[in-house]
Amino acid sequence: MPFPAERPRRLRRTEALRHLVAETTLQRRHLIAPLFVAETLTEPREISSMPGQFQHTVASLLAEVDELVARGITSIILFGVPATKDATGSQAWADEGICQVATRALAARFGDDIVIMNDLCLDEYTDHGHCGVLDARGDVDNDLTLELYGKIAVAQARAGAHVVAPSGMMDGQIEAIRRALDEAGYDQAAILAYAAKYASALYGPFRDAVAVSIAGGGHRRGYQQDPANIRESLREIRLDVAEGADMVMVKPAMTNLDVVAAARAEVDVPVFAYHVSGEYSMIHAAAEKGWIDGPAVALEQLLSLRRAGADAILTYFAKDIAGRLS
Ligand code: PBG
Repeated sequence: MPFPAERPRRLRRTEALRHLVAETTLQRRHLIAPLFVAETLTEPREISSMPGQFQHTVASLLAEVDELVARGITSIILFGVPATKDATGSQAWADEGICQVATRALAARFGDDIVIMNDLCLDEYTDHGHCGVLDARGDVDNDLTLELYGKIAVAQARAGAHVVAPSGMMDGQIEAIRRALDEAGYDQAAILAYAAKYASALYGPFRDAVAVSIAGGGHRRGYQQDPANIRESLREIRLDVAEGADMVMVKPAMTNLDVVAAARAEVDVPVFAYHVSGEYSMIHAAAEKGWIDGPAVALEQLLSLRRAGADAILTYFAKDIAGRLS
C-alpha cells in the first residue's frame, strides 16, 4: 500500500483541475448592489467611511446603474436619503419622496431589464433615527409602525419596485406588508425579508451613508437580534416565510455563516446574505494600508457565503469585482 493512500492534492495540481472540481460558484447574477440616493444633492458625494460608494443624485444613480448593467450586475437595492425628516418618517411613503422619485426614474430607464429592490424602513426618514414610530416612553411602537410599513410598501410598488425589502425587524411586518400590497393591487410585488437581522456594530459606515444617528442610547437592540442567538433567527425566518416572504435574508454576513447555512437547510425560498457596510469598509481600510489584497479578500468572503448556502449576496463590492466573475 503506497503511503499516503489518499492524495487530495492530485486535484489541486493545475488551474484547470481546480476549476473542474470547484464545488461552489460565484457569478455576477449572485450579486445585488446597494445604492444610495439623496434628495438634496446636486452632485454625487462620496461616503467618507465607504470609499468608492456614493450618495447619488437621481442622474448619477442612473449613470451608476448603466455602469453596473454594462458590467453584468442587474440587481440593485435602493436606499433614500430625504431632505427632511420628521417623527413618523412621512417622506418614506410620499409619492414625491426621494426613493419613489428615483425608483420611477430607474423603472422608466431600465424597465424589467434589472431587478429594482427598495429597502423598506423608516430610520432614514425619522428625526429620531429609529426604524419605527415611538410611543410615549420612547420605545418603538410595533403595531403603529406596521401601518406605516404598509403605506411605504404600496408607495414603493407604485413607483415600480419589483421587490420591497423590509429591514425594520417589527413583529408581523411581512404579513402587514403583504396584505397592504395585495389590497392595493400589487400582488406581483415580491418581499425580501430581512428575516435574521442582528443588532450589529458593523452598520456604522452605513449610518454615515444615510445620515442617521439614533436617539435614546444609539442602538436598536430593542428590535434587532442579539448576536448570541441562532434559534431565534430560525424562528424569525420561519415566521417570515409563513407570513408570505418570497425571499429571506441574513445580516450581517461573515459573522453569521452558521445562520446562512441553517436558514438554507430550513426553508425552500431563496436565502440572501447582506455583506454590510462595516464588512466593506474593513476590507478597504486594510487594503489601503497595503496589509491585504482587498478584491481577493472580498472574493473569498463572497464565495464563502455562497458555500454556506447564500443564493445571492448584497454587497458594495458588486461593481468592483464584477469584472473578475462570469
Ligand atoms: C435599516 C438598514 C440598516 C442597514 C440596512 N438597512 C441600518 C440599521 O439597521 O441600522 C445596514 C446596511 C449596512 O450596514 O450596509 N434601514
